[in-house]
Amino acid sequence: MTELKATALIDPFQREIRYLRMSVTDRCDFRCVYCMSEDMKFLPRSEVLSLEEIERLARVFVGLGVRKIRLTGGEPLVRRGLTDLVRQVAQIPGLDTLAMTSNGARLAGQAVALRQAGLQQINISLDSLDPDRFHAMTRTGELADVLAGIDAAIAAGFPRIRLNAVILQGRNDQDVLALVAFALAKGIDLAFIEEMPLGVIDDHDRAETLLTSDALRAMIATQHVLEPEGADHRSGPASYYRVAGSKTRLGFISPHSHNFCGDCNRVRLTAEGRLLLCLGHEHSLDLRAPLRAGASDAELADMIRLALLRKPERHEFDLAGEPQIVRFMNMTGG
Ligand code: GTP
Ligand code: 5AD
Ligand code: SF4
Repeated sequence: MTELKATALIDPFQREIRYLRMSVTDRCDFRCVYCMSEDMKFLPRSEVLSLEEIERLARVFVGLGVRKIRLTGGEPLVRRGLTDLVRQVAQIPGLDTLAMTSNGARLAGQAVALRQAGLQQINISLDSLDPDRFHAMTRTGELADVLAGIDAAIAAGFPRIRLNAVILQGRNDQDVLALVAFALAKGIDLAFIEEMPLGVIDDHDRAETLLTSDALRAMIATQHVLEPEGADHRSGPASYYRVAGSKTRLGFISPHSHNFCGDCNRVRLTAEGRLLLCLGHEHSLDLRAPLRAGASDAELADMIRLALLRKPERHEFDLAGEPQIVRFMNMTGG
């Protein structure tokens, strides 16, 4: 215990960092309207961390007390060799949970191998059950591929599967109850996410399309009884409610209407090796340069500890005016 405390990552607001989100690529086969612009430029290969570099940093972070890692993108499954990375990271002594967030399109062919490699939890984006609306939200996505991916994940026996839906007023708000019915029928969880202002998008006005979690919950409560889960029904950014009489939990992620930064336990690593201390701030520490210049694990750990002193107290998301965060969501995978 004393050893853990000596190495643990604690920020100036006494928040212990136990959770690292690692983006393994900025690329994606979708172009979701809230995440990207239509003509995205992606990083050249040489600027992206190799799988070995990602694994090395994962080990350094676990040595600093991180207990959960989530692999994100872009879309993690477009990265070749990902299953090997999952296998390596899953074996790091001290790591309790290895999770991934995916768009699901390539999951049908990979779910079993990922599960066997040690992936424990998977979140899959699903914004609509209508093929045309799904295509409109993702610009390039095919609903049938994602539905096959979800079924493959269920068949592969992941202990926790959650769907993620970003609901935009006037675009896919008519899908809310159908998504709940789908999650109930499949016996899996579902989270509704308020859109966050990362990157300048021209598809819609974010202030006009915001549908708050409270409004969504009121809509769902017309058909289902929702029971708050756990003491404060909070677990990370999501507040969870169980649909009475079912296995399904509904999560609500409400950066605008219910701030959760006070409990923040996470940092992020971008695909090019920048450590981001907060999703809602640009300040970051470049770990790629020291890594490639031959820094030791202890030196990297010292840099990370020092960077933590600059973790901001909270995000300052504001839907009015230009976004303050110029990077798009695919740099961090959420
Ligand atoms: P858990 O690991 O169960 O906490 O999952 P998660 O909800 O954090 O993961 P996921 O990758 O599915 O992200 C869902 C949404 O939550 C995305 O829109 C993320 O951007 C958002 N999110 C995750 N962490 C944070 C955070 O620290 N701050 C904010 N504002 N949003 C976050
Ligand atoms: N605001 C909120 N959620 C977003 N996602 C992508 N971009 C945004 C945004 N601007 C979601 C995706 C995915 C998760 C990782 O983040 O739908 O489920
Ligand atoms: Fe790709 Fe996810 Fe962004 Fe959609 S939200 S474009 S699936 S990274």
